[in-house]
Amino acid sequence: MTKITKDMRYVGVNDYEIDLFEGQFVVPKGMAYNSYVILDEKTAVLDTVDIKFGTEWLDNVKKALEGRAPDYLIINHMEPDHSANVRNFVSSYPDVKVVGNFKTFVMLSEFFGEDFTVNKVMVKEGDCLSLGKHELTFVFAPMVHWPEVMVTYDKFDKALYSADAFGKFGASDADEAWDDEARRYYFGIVGKYGAQVEALFKKLSSFEIKAIYPLHGPLLSENISHYLDLYSKWASYTPEISGVMIAYTSVYGHTKEAAELLARELKENGVENVKVCDIARTDFAACIADAFRYNKIVLATTTYNGDIFPAMRKFIDDLTERNFKRRIVGLIENGSWAPMASRVMTERLGKCKELEFTENTVKIRSALNDESRVAIKALADELGK
Ligand code: FEO
Repeated sequence: MTKITKDMRYVGVNDYEIDLFEGQFVVPKGMAYNSYVILDEKTAVLDTVDIKFGTEWLDNVKKALEGRAPDYLIINHMEPDHSANVRNFVSSYPDVKVVGNFKTFVMLSEFFGEDFTVNKVMVKEGDCLSLGKHELTFVFAPMVHWPEVMVTYDKFDKALYSADAFGKFGASDADEAWDDEARRYYFGIVGKYGAQVEALFKKLSSFEIKAIYPLHGPLLSENISHYLDLYSKWASYTPEISGVMIAYTSVYGHTKEAAELLARELKENGVENVKVCDIARTDFAACIADAFRYNKIVLATTTYNGDIFPAMRKFIDDLTERNFKRRIVGLIENGSWAPMASRVMTERLGKCKELEFTENTVKIRSALNDESRVAIKALADELGK
């Protein structure tokens, strides 16, 4: 339990044992499940934590309450990493009012077989709940990252309890920059829902925000505009930097050689930001996040079983699923007898909007030769313009 402001306590927990967050994302620095307590004339607990940490969390809450009973449990998000201890909490404090919206209570029924009817306080978009001097406003944030999600704004502290938004991978004591792990988290988990994130921002535009308290990662109370600006870019699929990501797969090293030659040519052309990524050997979520970071991308892969190499197929599927758009795309294909990777990649990217393909495409027959080296130089020249 940590005192954050005069009236607010952090009661979250750290998970250092987790192997894959949400069953798919590597989290070498663990994961934080955040939860908060506001002490006022009335007391409120905001969200619970993962089921594995029920006892630790209940102890934290008890300490934070300083002998008082909780008046409200506010459920901003029903995904089990935040809601799994609702029943444990209500069992511990049977008189607590459980605050959620219509969809929250539907999901409570689904997860727990009951919707806590006796405790239920159902709120609508924009409803307020006064704790005393802290007045809480509930703003619905559907699909950021589930349909029932809402965020809670505390007018007194000018603080936004932002649910999954502004979260990141890593336990709360992870010593690392926010941007990279927050980007990997955003595009992994929420990336498909940029329009919904923008809709939430529009609704929040009249709120002054001095602190952001997410359900994962550090509490943000300084340089708020940095986080808001990054989220605004991510939600609108606007690249963060001018540069080229070269994402490749390579079976025997020849496509890798092409990717690395392109990187050298780009640097010689004065392109400072070049990232080369072997997507079959790099954390996939990090590759996806990088693809959204740069304004240009080159995909290099082999023809494989009349299609493309499996890792590249998944990479493109993950991009299209997340509404990859507004990028310049170059292609390098390799094939020993019937190269068709460029055609397949182009077709697979067909669902993406506002992609501009380079005029130069590189075809490699098995290994680089003079002709394909010239083609790579031409692609580098075009991308470097
Ligand atoms: Fe952290 Fe969507 O749950």
